[in-house]
Amino acid sequence: MKYNFDEVIDRSQNRSSKYDERMKTFGDGSVIPLWVADMDFKTAQPIIDACKKKAEEGIWGYTSRPASYFEAVKEWEKKRNGWDVDTSLMSWCLGVVPALSALVKLYTDEGDKVMIQTPVYPEFYDVTEAWGREVVENQLVEKDGSWAIDFDDFEKKAKDERVKVFLLCSPHNPLGIVWKPEELERMANICIDNGVLLVSDEIHSDLIFHGKKHTPTAMISDRIAANIVTCVSATKTFNLAGLQASTTIFPNQEMKAKFDRFWMNMDIHRNNAFSSVAMEAAYREGEEWLEQLLEYLSGNFDFVKEYCEKYIPKIKPNVPDATYLVWLDCRELNMTNEELRNFMVKKAGLGLNEGWKFGRSLTGFMRLNTACPRSVLEKALGQLRNAVNAL
Ligand SMILES: Cc1ncc(COP(=O)(O)O)c(C=O)c1O
Repeated sequence: MKYNFDEVIDRSQNRSSKYDERMKTFGDGSVIPLWVADMDFKTAQPIIDACKKKAEEGIWGYTSRPASYFEAVKEWEKKRNGWDVDTSLMSWCLGVVPALSALVKLYTDEGDKVMIQTPVYPEFYDVTEAWGREVVENQLVEKDGSWAIDFDDFEKKAKDERVKVFLLCSPHNPLGIVWKPEELERMANICIDNGVLLVSDEIHSDLIFHGKKHTPTAMISDRIAANIVTCVSATKTFNLAGLQASTTIFPNQEMKAKFDRFWMNMDIHRNNAFSSVAMEAAYREGEEWLEQLLEYLSGNFDFVKEYCEKYIPKIKPNVPDATYLVWLDCRELNMTNEELRNFMVKKAGLGLNEGWKFGRSLTGFMRLNTACPRSVLEKALGQLRNAVNAL
């Protein structure tokens, strides 16, 4: 079927944190919300149908997780990425962030360090610091608008014997980088050589553009597969984050058992009644919707790029090869982070993510979520243009 991503859907009654938490987050409940990574599109019809069927059953007691759920993940990974995953090494989780948090807790001790590549999804700081662990930043280096890994710094930091875990964001949020197999291999081998566990967050791996190809890091070699835990989910791809589900893939049964025990100890070991149904429908029947979504999002990136070039040249958008998140370089506005935040909220009427939260030493960046109808983007960019012109 043909999906209409131009449809503007009223989310005022949708219990949406993206909308309902605007007052709390921005001090203004009327900003156009282009922040948290959640899409303003309805998900694929087969997923809606599967959930409707589940709703009509009218019994949502303690819910089992059939083997077919893990089979669906396996088949998806095989088809999309050519990765042949052993279902016996998969665990279910409430989400990728809860899984990352648990892995940090289980594979580091208090006072240990966790390496991250900044700017990166801010929860990477949070899941580290929440457990009293220290963040070590391997800062990505920017040159003429593109960002690259500083391997010398990466290796130096990996050699610190208190660094026990490296949280990799692949593909990368917020820069939308699809890492090359040789980059992944080099990072993974440095981790192995220095006794650092690689945890790879691949939640954005279905949202790939411009002919790029995602490589699951665990697929690169058996040596690497033995030292990596991979986190994936259909929730980002299909806009199901409110159902809270993800899959964690381990190198061996011991590590899987340790993770499962952690959740079992809190009695968190079953799905909610709708999540596995939705995830399975997404993996098995969502591809047609996904292909149309990718085309629409790619058009949104072009729209943002062309609009900024033409009307707001002081703001330079990074067109991502992955995710639906556009990193805005606003440095030519010459504002402090606080001024930039106030400018976006109060003058432009936009609720964006502040760049410094992704890399604490950065000034002058914002993150724009483009997963909305183009008319909404057009309105938002129009407001931004007027605000910049009024400076
Ligand atoms: C890199 C990354 N990991 C994880 C998440 C969230 O995962 P979950 O909702 O499954 O906890 C996000 C959401 O934006 C993300 O960008």
